[in-house]
Amino acid sequence: MTLVPDLPQGNDTAFTALFTPLKLGHRTARNRIVHAPMSVCYGDADGNVTRPQIEHYARRAQGGAGTVITENFAVNASGRQMRLQNLVDGEQRLPGLRRLADEVHRHGALAMVQLVHAGRYAGPWDVYDSRRRLAPSAVPFPLTSDRTVTPQEITPEEIEETITAFGQAAHLCERAGFDGVDLHAGQGFLISGFLSPRTNRRTDEWGGGFDGRVRFLLEVLREVRRRTGPDFVVGVHLMTDERVEGGWTLDNALRLAPLLEAAGADFLFGVPTSFETMRLPANSGLMDRHGYALTDNSALARATSLPVMVGGRLGDPHAAARALEDHHVSAIALARPLFTDPDWPRKVSDGALDAIRGCSCATARCLRTQLTGAVCEGWPAETIERGYLGYDDHDDERVRS
Ligand SMILES: Cc1cc2nc3c(=O)[nH]c(=O)nc-3n(C[C@H](O)[C@H](O)[C@H](O)COP(=O)(O)O)c2cc1C
Ligand code: SF4
Repeated sequence: MTLVPDLPQGNDTAFTALFTPLKLGHRTARNRIVHAPMSVCYGDADGNVTRPQIEHYARRAQGGAGTVITENFAVNASGRQMRLQNLVDGEQRLPGLRRLADEVHRHGALAMVQLVHAGRYAGPWDVYDSRRRLAPSAVPFPLTSDRTVTPQEITPEEIEETITAFGQAAHLCERAGFDGVDLHAGQGFLISGFLSPRTNRRTDEWGGGFDGRVRFLLEVLREVRRRTGPDFVVGVHLMTDERVEGGWTLDNALRLAPLLEAAGADFLFGVPTSFETMRLPANSGLMDRHGYALTDNSALARATSLPVMVGGRLGDPHAAARALEDHHVSAIALARPLFTDPDWPRKVSDGALDAIRGCSCATARCLRTQLTGAVCEGWPAETIERGYLGYDDHDDERVRS
């Protein structure tokens, strides 16, 4: 399916590159602005898609993003991290997923779901020891700044079940009408846990050297490809560099990238560090450094012919445009900037840069309020009071289902 670009071009040619169509596998997005996955947690405790959630994502599409990737949805209950996180684990999820895909499409964007198994980060965290938390190896780690826990080593049977769960979830997303999925292989969740020599100490075929450690991701990708059609877009959200002694390195990621391409990936989206390593003194404040993922993604883009999406503090439109020009990447991905102002793409295309509501709070309110439904410091006061819709001028007629 090709979506016709529907954003008028402003006069400012500085941004032309942002508004050229983007080919992802067999689909084409109207521009190169991607809504990056951001867990706002407007789902319900049963894992269903909700009306506020549909409005939230539809609003980001209405604001002009070319591709909308949802927050991470868990492929099964054992891979669920947050209480209000969506599940993509069976037929019962189809009606909600369908409405979500339809509403994003209605506003002209490609719709994708990010799929995850949270692995050792699975919740609920207050009763961490109450059940098995799956990880490649039983390596203790700091779950929070004051609490160290130890997950269980996933068995070969559980590995096969989890690979199947990713395939089934992707197939459900395809049946619901989504254009594709983004496989979460970052932040220390299960897939990236397999990549890292720090967390994968296995000696069987799922560990050991590089080939063993990348096997799980490659098998997940192959299974997703096997269960979905050739037009379905499959991307990999890849940890580029763990940024810690003895961890997964950028060289590893560059070696893996062509293997992902050969196994059927349609795009890559590189993210440095993990939840654990972003807290290290050497990496502190990383998420607030402008363009912090550019170097890694630029290298990824040179290592394959796949389109590469780059995020990370690119909310300044000039910086976003320069990222495309100077770093060989194919698309820029915005999480916090589109949370603060879903109309960022339209305002840039109209040349109305002064009207953009910037993301700039010191202690990110979106992170602090994430568990109960994220709220943005930058929204108008009345929207903050309402709690979730994400902007002030939403139209209740939009979601009638
Ligand atoms: C509240 C919050 C939730 C996030 N949730 C996810 C997520 O579900 N999946 C993911 O891959 N990244 C997630 N991220 C990371 C973003 O996708 C993005 O990479 C990061 O925020 C940097 O981009 P930005 O500067 O445009 O926000 C989250 C970030 C924030 C602030
Ligand atoms: S709460 Fe703060 S950091 Fe989060 S998106 Fe809004 S302005 Fe940005």
